[in-house]
Amino acid sequence: MIIRTLDDVTADALAAMNSTEDPRLREIMASLVKHLHAFVRDVRLTEPEFRQAAAVLNEMGKLTSDSHNEPMLMAGSLGVSSLVCLLNNGDGGNSETSQSLLGPFWRLNSPRVANGGTIVRSDTPGDPLIVTARVVDRSGAPIAGAEVDVWHASPIGLYENQDPEQANMNLRGKFTTDAHGRFWFNTVKMVGYPIPTDGVVGRLLKAQNRQPKRPAHLHALIFKPGFKVLISQVYDPTDPNIDVDPQFGVTKALLGDYVRHDKPHPDAAIRSPWYALDYTYVMEAGEAVLPQAPIK
Ligand SMILES: [Fe+2]
Repeated sequence: MIIRTLDDVTADALAAMNSTEDPRLREIMASLVKHLHAFVRDVRLTEPEFRQAAAVLNEMGKLTSDSHNEPMLMAGSLGVSSLVCLLNNGDGGNSETSQSLLGPFWRLNSPRVANGGTIVRSDTPGDPLIVTARVVDRSGAPIAGAEVDVWHASPIGLYENQDPEQANMNLRGKFTTDAHGRFWFNTVKMVGYPIPTDGVVGRLLKAQNRQPKRPAHLHALIFKPGFKVLISQVYDPTDPNIDVDPQFGVTKALLGDYVRHDKPHPDAAIRSPWYALDYTYVMEAGEAVLPQAPIK
């Protein structure tokens, strides 16, 4: 088409997308062009802004490495990661789900720990936290023999791979649920931590007066053939940043009850105050496909 008006551009670009053979790719690209053109019209994007946008995309690519993914961080910071998660779980977004974002810190081959064991592997400050959890299916029936990876940041807000002071695999462990679908372990109470702010996302948050700290959370990845792999984060509702998560990951279903106890624990080795978290993870039927580990 020889283009005469700006409306011709949109029609011509849409027609070009329609020649895509793969039907799903055709649908995605046609919709993308439709919405992108509408967006450009809506904000009346200027030429300098357009060049700036291209520069930002280039910069996000350059910032990305084996241990850092700036586009994924941006997707989270715009709420897109959370939207995709909610759209694809809990009956297509119609019911609550234990699913959440994987985040950048899951590692393969967490050390096996027996139920009741600890995942504290080196001297780690912080109050004791005793986690008791259950894994059930949508009908509430326990799922025995599920493999559960757990991991969390330290009480100073760093994962072990970010912190030379912590032993390798500190605050990580792999458990197997018992006949009642239960797993349980001891650890220390984690705190919230800031997402990386030295790149494009950091500049965006600053421009929007948004704070960068995620509320404290416990990660889990639960694997059992016959079920969709459950990737979850359980948040502490008393965290000061619980309703300003820069990654929009906090949903009602993922609020955990981290109960503080000031009275001594029956086990004298557990000093006061100590915390207890009891949580039930719900798995949906599906194919058990592990995601790629974001880091080694
Ligand atoms: Fe995290």
